[in-house]
Amino acid sequence: RAIYLKDYQVPPFLIDTTELRFELGDDHTLVRSVLKMRRNPASPSRQAPLDLHGHESLELCRLAISGQVLSPQDYRREGESLLIRAVPDEFTLECLTRIRPQDNTALEGLYRSDGMYCTQCEAEGFRRITFYLDRPDVMSVFTTTVEADARRYPVLLSNGNPVASGSLEDEGRHWVTWQDPFPKPAYLFALVAGDLAHIERPFKTASGRDVTLRIYAESRDLDKLDHAMESLVKAMRWDEKVYGREYDLDIYMIVAVDFFNMGAMENKGLNIFNTSCVLASPETTTDAAFQRVEGVVAHEYFHNWSGNRVTCRDWFQLSLKEGFTVFRDAEFSADMNSRAVKRVEDVTLLRTAQFAEDAGPMAHPVRPASFIEISNFYTLTVYEKGAEVVRMIHTLLGPELFRKGSDLYFERHDGQAVTTDDFVRAMEEVSGRDLSQFRLWYDQAGTPRLHVSDDYDAAAQRYSLHVEQSCPATPDQAEKKPFHIPLAIGLLGPGGRDLPLAGGATTEVLELTETKQTFVFEGVAERPVPSLLRGFSAPVKLQYPCSRDERVFLMSHDSDGFNRWDAGQALAVDILRELMDQYRAGRPMQLDCALIDAFAAVLDDEALDPAMVAKVLTLPSEAYLSELSDEIDVEAIHEARQFAKKALAQALSGRFERRYLALAPAGVYAPDAVQVARRSLRNLCLSYLMALEQPAQLARARAQYDDADNMTDRQGALSLIAHSAFGAEADAVLEDFYRRFERETLVINQWLAIQASDPKPGALARVDALMKHEAFDIRNPNKVRSLISVFCNQNAVNFHAADGAGYDFLADRIIEMNRLNPQVASRLLTPLTRWRKYDAPRQALMQSALQRILDSGELSKDVYEVVSKSL
Ligand code: ARG
Ligand code: ZN
Repeated sequence: RAIYLKDYQVPPFLIDTTELRFELGDDHTLVRSVLKMRRNPASPSRQAPLDLHGHESLELCRLAISGQVLSPQDYRREGESLLIRAVPDEFTLECLTRIRPQDNTALEGLYRSDGMYCTQCEAEGFRRITFYLDRPDVMSVFTTTVEADARRYPVLLSNGNPVASGSLEDEGRHWVTWQDPFPKPAYLFALVAGDLAHIERPFKTASGRDVTLRIYAESRDLDKLDHAMESLVKAMRWDEKVYGREYDLDIYMIVAVDFFNMGAMENKGLNIFNTSCVLASPETTTDAAFQRVEGVVAHEYFHNWSGNRVTCRDWFQLSLKEGFTVFRDAEFSADMNSRAVKRVEDVTLLRTAQFAEDAGPMAHPVRPASFIEISNFYTLTVYEKGAEVVRMIHTLLGPELFRKGSDLYFERHDGQAVTTDDFVRAMEEVSGRDLSQFRLWYDQAGTPRLHVSDDYDAAAQRYSLHVEQSCPATPDQAEKKPFHIPLAIGLLGPGGRDLPLAGGATTEVLELTETKQTFVFEGVAERPVPSLLRGFSAPVKLQYPCSRDERVFLMSHDSDGFNRWDAGQALAVDILRELMDQYRAGRPMQLDCALIDAFAAVLDDEALDPAMVAKVLTLPSEAYLSELSDEIDVEAIHEARQFAKKALAQALSGRFERRYLALAPAGVYAPDAVQVARRSLRNLCLSYLMALEQPAQLARARAQYDDADNMTDRQGALSLIAHSAFGAEADAVLEDFYRRFERETLVINQWLAIQASDPKPGALARVDALMKHEAFDIRNPNKVRSLISVFCNQNAVNFHAADGAGYDFLADRIIEMNRLNPQVASRLLTPLTRWRKYDAPRQALMQSALQRILDSGELSKDVYEVVSKSL
């Protein structure tokens, strides 16, 4: 059932043009296709039969080759394939297919979301629409006509530019024809039909092309589209400036839909977005969500070049477009907001979730070697680690050569479907560097470990760094070759000043290529403190025997903002582990003053960016502490962290209060960097004050909730009260919030998530009850994520309850979702796949939950692959 990268073959047939006509109807939808096909001159198999993809749910009404209708003896359907034995070298294939989008709960292919039709074709959804060569290296020019009831579906959209329209008066129906001049694979096809409102803005590209930008949504959300539009314009300008890339059609459209498996999709000229990644207004949207909208809008826009103009040869190359595009959107966000804060956020995600993936049973290289279901490989490894791999190339080459390499890549491969090797080759050619060893980052899974030690020879004034690299075994890969790792470092001399290194710079990129290497620095007058892996220059786990004093020193002096934050995190981890040991030994917990003093110094430093202060003062999450543990002790992690939080609050309550008051909002709300920074620190101060569990602090939080003119402050206060020990007040504020925002689906999803993440006992019963609430709908992935995923991933003490009730709950939901929506079901599995990291009784309970899913009957490929690989 698995398919392998090594088996890749060029397609035996090509599709030069694709003409589609959709007749949308309540009972069924008819899809007529006319494909101009011919044998691929590059294919060695001159006699190969025509093997089309088509999902089992397709009803084939008519099939003709060059006008000749085929009878059932002329073809064979088996699983996802339609095999036509004898076809000429060049022909027209006509196909009439009947589908039922209204019954499509998988949300792949063409489906209905509330009252509108939309599509999601990546990776292999097009085969649920009609029979086709549904592989990214088959690129075709599409012309699409959409026909539907004129009153209920006034807006009819597809890729490219609109070229004709008309109405079928007597039937009350109308149609629009769209033409996309750029050849594209089927996964970039899109169609939308509905009663939609839109906002519009003109845009002139750098070279003078006039483009219309449009964002569509249901009319009630029309007031929540401006931020996405501004983000789009910023992204378009940024890509012109930083990568020299311009938009290429007359119109660029984004459509917001409420039922969506992922964040968004870069369909050519017609992006389809999860409402959660496009809608934004101060009253309903937090600062974090505003920034997510900006990032996702940019991400999908950047795909127009890194993904659409240059696409992937096959799905093993997914990171070619995703890793590169995530790197591009991260740099964009860094330029728009705070660079250091963005880096901290991305590294935090990588170190908690991607490192955990790399250490689990689904670990795979950035370029996987095999898969059963490609949907399972839209992972943190392909996206986030893939972006780190591109970032390392950027670090090794420097910005100018990297830009030259990207220019060469886009120019050379425009209109082609290519591989990650082609990308690296362009970078090699412009730089003259040999990146053959570097390519191992694409093929070897697992997180490399660096062990660093040092010595100092005072007489010779010589400082040496010894670095040893290794990488743990992962499924199918026992032995690893050494990686080519850029290790950015600085040396802090007396007073915390950077020592000048090679060429007078204060940061030097050491290149590791061997298992063991030593780097020698001459003329070092005093033993320095090393600042290692500056900016997180490689996705590795670095160990260096650093004392608490040295960490405090780095925290206050390192010129690298990221490493200053990281030193604080390392200090906190060290101290939290000590508390966990005390807790396990049944001794009273006692917080090392070093952390209190360090936090006090940071709180007192008014010159620091408040957003970075908030990051530094945020204790490592339970998820990160879990990832760092060999065996996860759920209770000890939770108790130690709670204890530290309260102890810090008690020791520093005056400071938290002072800064809370000083950061009070001034002026009209705007989600700009300055205000976002202030709110993040202010809400963090409130969270410490609430840890004091005092009625006065509760009143303060309630006042913030009541008086807030924006969702960041209101929701910040809400979740603190909801998670507090003040039960009656928690219920009251949740009730009030529901009343206020009943009609705002995305806000109510946050309301579900806050309850699902409540660490107090009884959360599972609450989640169970909420599944029956009118606000919940198991067919809507956003709601499943808010309630079920949040409970299972952000509420460890309840999900991992010793009696296994959390595991049983999740297994039941997966069995239910497996039939409705395999992609969402498969993603829900993640926490169960990590069973090896828990104690023996929990391991047994988690394994039996997985076994029960496996035995539950007919499993989708998605769920089957994850369950079978993790048992
Ligand atoms: N290409 C989209 C993006 O990165 C994600 C599409 C995911 N689709 C899927 N079936 N997993 O923005
Ligand atoms: Zn993407």
